[in-house]
Amino acid sequence: MVFSPPEQSTILAVDDNPANLGLLSDFLYGAGFEVLTARSGAIAIARAQRTLPDLILLDVMMPEMDGFEVCKQLKEDPTTAPIPVIFMTALADVSNKSKGFELGAVDYITKPFHQEEVLVRIQLHLRLYHLTRQVQSQNEVLEQRVQERTQALESALKTLRATQVQLIQGEKMSSLGKLVSGIAHEINNPVNFIYGNLIHIQEYVDHLLSGLSLYQTVAPPLTPSQVQQLEDLDLDFIQEDLPKLVQSMQVGADRIRQIVLGLRNFARTDESQIKEVNLNDGLESTLMLLQSRLKSSSKRPEISVVKRYGELLLFGVYPGPLNQVWMNLLGNAIDALEDWSAMEPEAPLTIEIETRMTATGVEVSIMDNGPGIAPAVQAQMFDPFFTTKSVERGTGLGLSISQQIVADLHRGTLAYEGVSPHGSRFVIHLPRLEAAGG
Ligand SMILES: Nc1ncnc2c1ncn2[C@@H]1O[C@H](COP(=O)(O)OP(=O)(O)OP(=O)(O)O)[C@@H](O)[C@H]1O
Ligand SMILES: [Mg+2]
Repeated sequence: MVFSPPEQSTILAVDDNPANLGLLSDFLYGAGFEVLTARSGAIAIARAQRTLPDLILLDVMMPEMDGFEVCKQLKEDPTTAPIPVIFMTALADVSNKSKGFELGAVDYITKPFHQEEVLVRIQLHLRLYHLTRQVQSQNEVLEQRVQERTQALESALKTLRATQVQLIQGEKMSSLGKLVSGIAHEINNPVNFIYGNLIHIQEYVDHLLSGLSLYQTVAPPLTPSQVQQLEDLDLDFIQEDLPKLVQSMQVGADRIRQIVLGLRNFARTDESQIKEVNLNDGLESTLMLLQSRLKSSSKRPEISVVKRYGELLLFGVYPGPLNQVWMNLLGNAIDALEDWSAMEPEAPLTIEIETRMTATGVEVSIMDNGPGIAPAVQAQMFDPFFTTKSVERGTGLGLSISQQIVADLHRGTLAYEGVSPHGSRFVIHLPRLEAAGG
């Protein structure tokens, strides 16, 4: 770093004695400085504040306000504090000198002074002062740069994390979606065979049975062993039971078809488009996928699901991503209830789902009577990769991605509320979106 002194340094000379002050300023002027003078402490302070000189020569012994007091006040004001102060005094006594240094003076000149010496000292302190100022301003620039870089790095890191989350979750969901839609597709054809043919079976069974009763009325006499054989066949019972069997097969086939429809609904491939749907349907098909997790097990009782579906109008949303949200929230609720049951084996386990239209859109609330969420966890649970679960059970992405889907994609809100006496409630509000081409 090269020292570059300012064009001309300004020195403020302070002395109550006009003769001294005159001598001093002549001499400083002669040495090439710009000189300001003050004959009292109060004037000195005001002048220093206004002009910010490069150095102050300050007489100690002054009436009203002495040099020490002036120095103290200058150092208290952040704008004048950095200006170097050199005391001038006739006093040679050590305690006064140390008092001056304590107050922040940089040097002492004893009167009467040798001009050479004064000049050398003044130049030395001016140099120090300007060098310090240069270093300080360079430091500020450096600090600013470091801050800028840190900020840039932080925002890059944030973007990276968000992208990472999207990639991982996107992959997770798209492979689940592919699996589900693959299965749905595979089941669909055979189920349609069964379903389509059941109508004919019903008809054929009817015909066969009426044919049979016709034969019974006109049949020639049977031998006793034929009668026995017919009795063993239990035809009466079959006649009565067969229609019921066909009926229940129809009900079963119908149910499978509904499930397939539900699976297809869940794995909607038209994810990137806004569609008019009934949100209750998405919740239903998600629940269907989770059916096996709701059942009772050796470790815990069944989880009952209370549904309070409101009358929802068709509503423009991104159905695929929203199903991910239901999946994440319901999955979390089931995890929480499992934990709760491990601690309270007798406790009833319930999930409540509520939907309703509001003035601005739709509200969905998913509540469980599990352990609830501690404030420390609440503070972090929406962060990507934050989880309290073991590696096999959680990646910590569920809530962060749900938040993204609700807030970024739908401009909605996802909020948490504790439930008394224990449990959690997540409330999603989705505002009305404009459908893009139906
Ligand atoms: N209903 C709930 N009851 C209690 N704790 C919950 C509930 N929902 C979320 N949490 C807490 O919030 C944390 C973060 O949830 P999040 O869904 O983001 O991740 P995860 O469930 O741990 O993992 P992932 O969803 O990726 O499988 C959970 O680990 C859990 O501690
Ligand atoms: Mg989760």
